[in-house]
Amino acid sequence: MGETEFIDKLVNELTLDEKLSMIHGAAMFHTEAVERLGIPELVMSDGPMGVRNDFEDDKWIPIGNSDDYVSYMPSNSALAATWNRELAHSAGNVLGSEARGRGKDVILAPGVNLKRSPLCGRNFEYFSEDGFLTSELAIPFIKGVQENDVAACVKHFALNHQETERLWVDEEIDEEVLRDTYLYVFEEILKRSGSYSIMSAYNKLYGEQCCESKFLLNKVLREEWNYDGCVISDWGGVHNTKNAAEASLDIEMSVTNNFDEYFLAKPLKKAIEAGEVDEKLIDEKVRHILLLMLRLKMIGAGEEKPSRKKGAYNTEKNRQSIYDVASESIILLKNDKKLLPLDESKLKRILVIGENAERLHSNGGGSAEIKALYEISPLMGIRKKLGGNVKVDYVKGYASPPEENTNNGTNWQEKSLESMIMAPEMDGVGDDKYAMELAVLKSEAKKAAADGKYDAVIFVGGLNHEYDIEGRDRKSMKLPYSQDILIKELLSVRQDMIVVMMAGSAVEMGTWKDDADTLIWEYYNGMEGGTALSDVIFGDVNPSGRLPETLYYKVEDCSAFALGDFGGKEKVHYREGRLIGYRYTEKENVPVQFKFGYGLSYTEFETKDAEVSKDNSKVTLKVKNIGKYDGKETVQVYADNGEYKTLCGFEKVFLKSGEEKSVSIEIPERYRSAKTISVGNL
Ligand code: BGC
Repeated sequence: MGETEFIDKLVNELTLDEKLSMIHGAAMFHTEAVERLGIPELVMSDGPMGVRNDFEDDKWIPIGNSDDYVSYMPSNSALAATWNRELAHSAGNVLGSEARGRGKDVILAPGVNLKRSPLCGRNFEYFSEDGFLTSELAIPFIKGVQENDVAACVKHFALNHQETERLWVDEEIDEEVLRDTYLYVFEEILKRSGSYSIMSAYNKLYGEQCCESKFLLNKVLREEWNYDGCVISDWGGVHNTKNAAEASLDIEMSVTNNFDEYFLAKPLKKAIEAGEVDEKLIDEKVRHILLLMLRLKMIGAGEEKPSRKKGAYNTEKNRQSIYDVASESIILLKNDKKLLPLDESKLKRILVIGENAERLHSNGGGSAEIKALYEISPLMGIRKKLGGNVKVDYVKGYASPPEENTNNGTNWQEKSLESMIMAPEMDGVGDDKYAMELAVLKSEAKKAAADGKYDAVIFVGGLNHEYDIEGRDRKSMKLPYSQDILIKELLSVRQDMIVVMMAGSAVEMGTWKDDADTLIWEYYNGMEGGTALSDVIFGDVNPSGRLPETLYYKVEDCSAFALGDFGGKEKVHYREGRLIGYRYTEKENVPVQFKFGYGLSYTEFETKDAEVSKDNSKVTLKVKNIGKYDGKETVQVYADNGEYKTLCGFEKVFLKSGEEKSVSIEIPERYRSAKTISVGNL
């Protein structure tokens, strides 16, 4: 039997109750099975940094199994910093195989919203401020996931760019800008990756909830893009039965356990019986779900049980891929005095400072939280590498307030439909005891750093998942816990201190950046993050990460603040139009701390003979490694349409010391009308 015939047959056989049971959650993370007809439940799980732990069906209580520890992957921002499509594919494969290995059908990833503002609490889950970079990496990632007979779920469709009032905030944007700057990214990803599912966002667009939006779901997604995959609501994103039934949304999920009362459950049955909603609309939803199940080989149109791929989690192979991503995602921002890489044979004793040197991040962030099999912290990475031959001392330098991490044993998600608050400024303001503790930690660290006995001092700071977190945005780009003052003072006694910033999005570094000779940037970097960092510091890995976002001096330099607005409770205006991220700072010559695409290497590269074909369809050039280390260069190509510059091509090339290679980069059709195409960094 053909697939369509098979689906028709099942839809005819299903009763209304059975169909309804398929289109809404029957637990926090699955729908109900229709055993009579051999239709299984659809099992979903978060999220982008690995497969989340299991919860009880009807409570946000982790089951606490000892078997749901998983590989903890670098965040999507880290993946984007690699600018490496092959690594994105292998990362997708890790996630897909682990999801399948844990018995999941849909993995709720990747998050592909653009980093419109550095303050968005979920930026760490997103790739970049740039749509081209995002789609070029999300596409192989999704393919990698789906090769394992698990569906990716591209989220959050669309414009979920802030966490403040995310359930209600209404996005005001010119329709053309919406289409060619934001929706275009989803379109590219869906069409070229073949993602089997997509998640509609919490927020509103043009006054309609995205999960109920006829414009987004019926017109754009189905009619214009011909998308036949499954549309899943964000958890609690549906607010009205009729609207959701009529919108082309297939499955309603939520965070409460009154499953029968979900909008697409009993209330929908009532509406159908009252003649307010046509049952045919439900059939359409069921068809999309059945097609998804066929694609995943959960059911088969033929006689035999289809052979579905088997997954695997916590494998050596997955950990290797995770390490590969982690080591290519680290970005060297400053190496003014060429202090890096450190030569371990010349060291006797080193000092490590900073809470992030020892803090574990895998278990935070919201739905992206992971129950990691293990997580190598920077401090452990360094100690593990030096193997006892170099003495490694550690002082904290700063600490987050102890009350920050208390959650009373419940999961935040249970309350996630209640309004969330902005990240509090937790710098000890108004809390004398904590301010005192910070002062003590600072003077202890300064004293240690000033002690002549250390051959090297490494500071690891930045943010953590109290700031990079779902459900709330940051108030400012300032470093928390008075780190600015601490770093400045430490640099005053040790100018050669290696500063490592770990964060999910830009932070202010302006007060001390010029004092530091050496600066490394990294995102939350997965279970092997500490190994990768120490491999970069000690030269086993030549850093090749490039910034996937602009590091502004201050938040007002970002177009979402300079021209538009961000963080509004009712409405957000995208007055900046297409000038997102570097498009604005480049056009208006706004100075930034570090530009999009920036990143150093231990070696140097030379590019020459760059030529753009007459029709702007291709760029060719030669790249040579003129330094003494082997390394990877990322060639970037930008299109200038007279109004702004935008990335339109890139290629990461490995070159041995002294080696030269020819590189050819194809420019996608939509950029070929540009006035100029240029090769090289911004
Ligand atoms: C998040 C989604 C996530 C879902 C399920 C929501 O709070 O916005 O990204 O997949 O919960 O946990």
